[in-house]
Amino acid sequence: MSDRVRRASGALVAVVVSLAAAGCASDAPQDTLEPEGPAARTIDNLIMPIFGIAGIVFVFVLGGVLWLGWKFKARDDEPEGDLPEQVHGNTKLEIGWTIVPAIILAGVSVFTVATIFDLAEAEEGAMEVEVFGQQWWWEYRYDTDGDGETDDIVTANELVIPAGEPVNLSITSRDVIHSFWAPKLNGKKDAVPGRDHPLTLEADEPGRYLGQCTEFCGLSHANMNLVVEALDPEEFDAWRENQVTDAEEPTDEAAMAGLTTFEQFCTTCHQVDGLNEVEVGEADLIAGVAPNLTHFMTRQTFAGAMFDLMVTDDPECTSPVTPSADQCLNRPQLEAWLRNPPAEKPMAADAERGMPELGLNEDQIDDLVAYLITLD
Ligand code: CUA
Repeated sequence: MSDRVRRASGALVAVVVSLAAAGCASDAPQDTLEPEGPAARTIDNLIMPIFGIAGIVFVFVLGGVLWLGWKFKARDDEPEGDLPEQVHGNTKLEIGWTIVPAIILAGVSVFTVATIFDLAEAEEGAMEVEVFGQQWWWEYRYDTDGDGETDDIVTANELVIPAGEPVNLSITSRDVIHSFWAPKLNGKKDAVPGRDHPLTLEADEPGRYLGQCTEFCGLSHANMNLVVEALDPEEFDAWRENQVTDAEEPTDEAAMAGLTTFEQFCTTCHQVDGLNEVEVGEADLIAGVAPNLTHFMTRQTFAGAMFDLMVTDDPECTSPVTPSADQCLNRPQLEAWLRNPPAEKPMAADAERGMPELGLNEDQIDDLVAYLITLD
């Protein structure tokens, strides 16, 4: 095999492998090309035709380059050193390749700008939710009664919305720049300290839509996930009614001991409504604000949606959450987290970012878990 053939076949293999690798995730949970809400569909309707136009341009330009290279290459029967005919100053060609791309771009921009304005419109009368990015988790503060104050529900990482209804988000950050992205529902929106960026979310159907922070924000950027959970409107109402209530005091012994441990170690940063209050400054650059845990057990994940809090359909479940055991507490992971959080998720806890190691002993951890699972 000649060198040239070997190189060409190597390049071909690379192209085929990358195409195959890019195409193999047919039902990826974060596929922006599989829109499941109006905003994502609007974007998809723009992407597809523009991708087609870009494809035609790509084929045309690449084909032209290859054809020219082949047509004007030096041939064995030609004397060496002869230059091909020079086309510099060919007015028709130069005007042509200036005007044609300009026309294409102008055409594309009409639809792009229209889409940008379309997406920027907030839905009147929709529920308002304030979204805060913080190293390395998301906080959601709901205004469910429409009084303009986003203080009715405070939750973390899992944004619960009613399916088939738009929700207006206002996205900001308490420390560095993050970016909120649930690809199946809408485009990305940066979370910038001191700014409120609007984004409207709507899911066609009930379901869990995964997303993540898409702006590099430090050590655990890759572990700053999020979930948009769209519920049937009736289920959403039930969820909301539960979320606005305060936590109940535990009655069993282990949970009561856990509450004491919780008050000793956790309440500086974590709030449980009805138990304590954590002051939230305008911009808390460091930890000191941590997820509100009032209804911790209504979430499926924890620690920036990095770990499953619940495991479904585990036949060997030792800690069922519902009597049917189709929801099982991921006790080993929760305990490991309480034992040493920075070992589970990279965090600069010594610089007060993220949850520090608290030096809890195993009894305290058991009690804490007993308390946490009462928070439903
Ligand atoms: Cu937050 Cu990346």
